[in-house]
Amino acid sequence: MEITRRLRRLRKTQGLREMVRETVFHVNDLIWPVFIVEGKGIREGIPSMPGVERYSIDQLAGIARNATELGIPSLLLFGVPNTKQAEGRGAWEENSLVAQAIQEIKESQPELVVISDVCLCSYTSHGHCGVLVNGKIDNDRTVDYLVKTAIQHARAGADIVAPSDMMDGRVGAIRRALDSESYTETLILSYAVKFASSFYGPFRCAAECAPAFGDRRTYQMDFGNRREALREVAADIEEGADVIMVKPAMAYLDIVRDIRNNFHHPIVAYNVSGEYSMVKSASAAGWIDEKKTVMETLIGMKRAGADAVITYFAPSVAEWLLERRVTG
Ligand code: PBG
Repeated sequence: MEITRRLRRLRKTQGLREMVRETVFHVNDLIWPVFIVEGKGIREGIPSMPGVERYSIDQLAGIARNATELGIPSLLLFGVPNTKQAEGRGAWEENSLVAQAIQEIKESQPELVVISDVCLCSYTSHGHCGVLVNGKIDNDRTVDYLVKTAIQHARAGADIVAPSDMMDGRVGAIRRALDSESYTETLILSYAVKFASSFYGPFRCAAECAPAFGDRRTYQMDFGNRREALREVAADIEEGADVIMVKPAMAYLDIVRDIRNNFHHPIVAYNVSGEYSMVKSASAAGWIDEKKTVMETLIGMKRAGADAVITYFAPSVAEWLLERRVTG
C-alpha cells in the first residue's frame, strides 16, 4: 500500500507544531478571581482550594502590583464579610468591603481592569443569591438590591460589574440605573448562563455562602438545557450586556460553542472552584501533571469559543507563560 497523505508531517518538530497551532492561550486571556475579607494584615489559605488565599484590603495593592508584573490584565473581586443579614445589605451599603477593595486596587494600578461580582449570596444570612419573601426568592426585590450594589461598585471605580445571581431582568435594570447615574462607560459582564452545579462546592467554603436550606435550582439553570442557554444569552444581550459568561466551563463547552456560533459578543468562561480543586488534588497525589492539564483545559475553553477565562490558576498560568518566553 502506498501512503501519500501524511498529516504527521505537520507534527514533526516543536517548531512546526507551534507554527500551525490554531488556538493559543495568552496572558491577556486571564481573569484572576480574588476573595476579600475584613480585617488587617490577612492572607489566609482556603482549605478547599489549595494555593488560593483570601486577602484583607491592605494586601490588595500588593496583589494588584503582582497582577501587573505578571501581565494579568484583569481581577474579579468577591467580598466575604464577617457579618451577614437577612437581606444582605452589606452588599450595597456605603463604603462596602468590595467598594473599598475597588478603590484600593484602582489607586495602586489604575490600568488594571477591575470586575466586581454583583450578588447577595455571601451577604445574606441564609446564603441565597436573593432576598426571601414568604420563604421564596423574590426576583424583583432582589433586582432592586442588585442595582444598588452595582451602582455602588461603579461609583467606587469598577470598570465592569458582573451580576452572578441569575434573577430575571437584572441586566436591563442595572444598565438603566448605570446610565441614569452617568455611568455610561461601566460595562456589564453578565453571568448569562450559570448552571446549578456541584462544581461550586469549594467556592462556597471560600465565600461562606452555601445556602442554609434548599438549593439554587429555582434561579440557576438546569444542566440538561442547551436551547434555554441561548434564550438567557439573547435576553441579556437585549438588556444591554457587553460580555457574556458561561459557568462552569469544563462540562459546558458545547454551550460556549453554541453561543460563539450564534452571537458576536465576547464570551468569558468561568473555570470554577471545583474544576480547580480537582486538578489540584489529582496533581498533589501525583496522578496528573498540573501545568500540562491546566494549559490543555484553558486551550480547550478558548478553542470552544471563549475570549477570556476566569481561573484561580491565573497567577500560576501567567508565570508559566513568562517562563516559556524566557526558556523557549
Ligand atoms: C454566587 C457565586 C458562585 C460562584 C461565584 N459566585 C456560586 C454559587 O452559586 O454558589 C462560584 C465560583 C466558583 O465555584 O469558582 N453568586
